[in-house]
Amino acid sequence: MARVLVDAQLEPFLRETDVPAELEVELLASDAPTPAGDYAGMIPLLTRTVGPAELDGLPELRVVANYAVGYDNIDVAAAQARDVAVSNTPGVLTVATAELTWTLILAASRRVREGVELARSGTWTGWGPTQLLGMELRGKVLGLIGAGRIGREVGLRAPAFGMRVLCWDRTPDPDWLARTGAAAVELGALLERSDVISVHVPLTPETEHLLDAAALARVKRGAVLVNTARGPIVDESALIDALEGGRLRAAGLDVYEREPEIPERLRRLDNVVVLPHLGSATDEARRGMWRLAWENLLRGLRGEPLLTPVAGG
Ligand code: DGY
Repeated sequence: MARVLVDAQLEPFLRETDVPAELEVELLASDAPTPAGDYAGMIPLLTRTVGPAELDGLPELRVVANYAVGYDNIDVAAAQARDVAVSNTPGVLTVATAELTWTLILAASRRVREGVELARSGTWTGWGPTQLLGMELRGKVLGLIGAGRIGREVGLRAPAFGMRVLCWDRTPDPDWLARTGAAAVELGALLERSDVISVHVPLTPETEHLLDAAALARVKRGAVLVNTARGPIVDESALIDALEGGRLRAAGLDVYEREPEIPERLRRLDNVVVLPHLGSATDEARRGMWRLAWENLLRGLRGEPLLTPVAGG
């Protein structure tokens, strides 16, 4: 009998899953600390840190199947050093996250937040020729910081809006460059030339505060910034300064530096659309994430190669 930990919020998916008789699943409340014990596997959410302290309390652990594509919550090197395999959930949430990115690009460019608030306030006095004018996307430049799966999926939709695409990526896919007509450029050039900047790199020590005050000072005046990747990639207080100072026209944000905290200064700004980390929040994506995480868990327990291991996992 192998004991495994599964985050309690995943229980609706677990209920629809055939659990092998030799598996004992224990549900773990999302806000409870990771228990020590003889667990052989776990499926955590992205909000659970799995580092040396947690791993040391789980000497029998063979696999951590993260329920997320991002795995900055897991110390992969520490897991590897203890022969614990790690997986994530790439692919199944690509479309959902790309679609939410476009939701934010459009909402921020067309002042949807202010429009919704005005319409709901009961104080709207009627159509006006200069009311809540936004920025048209046609003929503008979309700058993708990162052209991995999600960045590429966002880029594929750009020609439909008449946008040209720039990307900053170490190894951009040549087929995708050809399909989108995208040009690979240095980060500085992307910041200076893009009307809409969208963040799609993973959070690593190298990308933390990649967009700091100095980087934001290079952004084309009046650009829109969208982040559906990870909050700490953007220095939040520098971002607020750039929005308040007018360097940025608007921002569309799904992620924050210290989730679930969203700074009041940010929430109050009219030119910011804030969402509560909904990138992968579709039925299709969340079920796909579950199926992939569960399969990875079973494979890890059997000592088989994982379907989607993370580097060295
Ligand atoms: C992920 O999978 O990393 C996403 O942020 C979850 O929506």
